[in-house]
Amino acid sequence: MISQVLVVSLLAGAGLAVPLNDDSAAQSAIVTGGKVTASIPTTLTEGVEWLVPIQVANKTFNVQLDTGSADLWLFCTEGPQNVESGHNQYDPKSGTKLNGASFDINYGSGFAKGDVYTDKVTLGGITVTQAVECATSVDDTDDNDHKLDGILGVGFNSGGGVFGILQTDQPDPQMTLVENAFPQLVSGLFTADLNFNQNGVYNFGYIDQARFTTPITYMPVRNFNNWIVETSGYQIGNNGAQSVTWKALIDTGTTNVLLPPSVVDAYFAAAPQAKKQSEGVYYVPCDATTAALPNFTITFTPPQPVASFIQPSSSGGINTRPYNAVIPGKYFIGNPTGKNDGMCQGGMNNMGAEQPWDIILGDVFLMTQLVVFDVADPNGSVDSSYPSHGQIGFAPKPA
Ligand SMILES: *[C@@H]1O[C@H](CO)[C@@H](O)[C@H](O)[C@H]1NC(C)=O
Ligand SMILES: *[C@@H]1O[C@H](CO)[C@@H](O)[C@H](O)[C@H]1NC(C)=O
Ligand SMILES: *[C@@H]1O[C@H](CO)[C@@H](O)[C@H](O)[C@H]1NC(C)=O
Repeated sequence: MISQVLVVSLLAGAGLAVPLNDDSAAQSAIVTGGKVTASIPTTLTEGVEWLVPIQVANKTFNVQLDTGSADLWLFCTEGPQNVESGHNQYDPKSGTKLNGASFDINYGSGFAKGDVYTDKVTLGGITVTQAVECATSVDDTDDNDHKLDGILGVGFNSGGGVFGILQTDQPDPQMTLVENAFPQLVSGLFTADLNFNQNGVYNFGYIDQARFTTPITYMPVRNFNNWIVETSGYQIGNNGAQSVTWKALIDTGTTNVLLPPSVVDAYFAAAPQAKKQSEGVYYVPCDATTAALPNFTITFTPPQPVASFIQPSSSGGINTRPYNAVIPGKYFIGNPTGKNDGMCQGGMNNMGAEQPWDIILGDVFLMTQLVVFDVADPNGSVDSSYPSHGQIGFAPKPA
């Protein structure tokens, strides 16, 4: 179980250029008839991660909201002294220790492990009592290269309780934040609104009508136990469209787009200035005109007849036709290589084999869409058959 890499987050060194330093609007929560909506600005940090503020025991932590995992862990005062400065640390004295519980999460690019407490967690005005994992050991990648104070998983509870992948041995399984918080929401959904080289917004409990223009294309999550939907094809630039069904993890916690190696090679072959650094790793000119990267199109074909769990009256309706999500070529220009050679990391990498998904559509993709992560209960409660259903909606954002 432990070796099963369920999550790919924070791919080392893979990212986007030029964080924009605009101020974050205050987060807000609106209460209507006892139910809540919340809007939480997310700040692009180091060009690779969007962080959101949460409060745990009255202290603010800037965490990455990760659809690819389900645990909440924080750097912890119990941790080793070698934790780099720059991380806010959780002091578990305010919490209640879950005796005998531990967590150990393997991400695609690292791990975190330690003890587990329950404590009060507030996200955008929504407060829950929640398992907080106190990371006493975090690998170097997350420790040194990133400014985050921890990771807040908003994925599904994939078994007998949260705690990373060590679920079966836990004496006291805990619920995910999604399970704890969603009964308080007006609608059991949240939206990711990340933007190219800019800050973004996560909204909980509602869809902001101003942030998309056309009908939303909803794809069912079905029984994938993760925020996974199926894609029906792809296209590199104006080359012929390819029909292929992939299970796609829609992952805010991964920076890049991860595809089968043959597709990655074909994509960069269409960009004459791209240089192969190693298998699945390409460098491209940082200048978009010189790089001349082709667009990459992903097609989602809603199953017919279209049956959407929710259809908010003012949402612009539901799209029933195949939908092409276009990632402009320049979105694949990542952070500089550090070699001062005008080259940047390419935002597309190889997907490793033997995962529960075929591809990962990370932030490079998410920036192009308003993405609705819908637990699919109109009352915001978690269905007893959860996570056996749910849906993800996609809509292009206004330019
Ligand atoms: C949080 O702050 C409130 C108001 O200042 C205070 O009443 C409460 O005791 C604090 N809680 C903790 C865990 O420090
Ligand atoms: C690439 O996509 C952008 C945004 O959708 C579009 O404006 C542009 O025309 C596309 N470029 C090509 C060469 O198709
Ligand atoms: C949602 O709440 C309404 C009003 O209480 C109720 O009529 C409806 O059955 C609920 N729907 C679900 C799916 O629980």
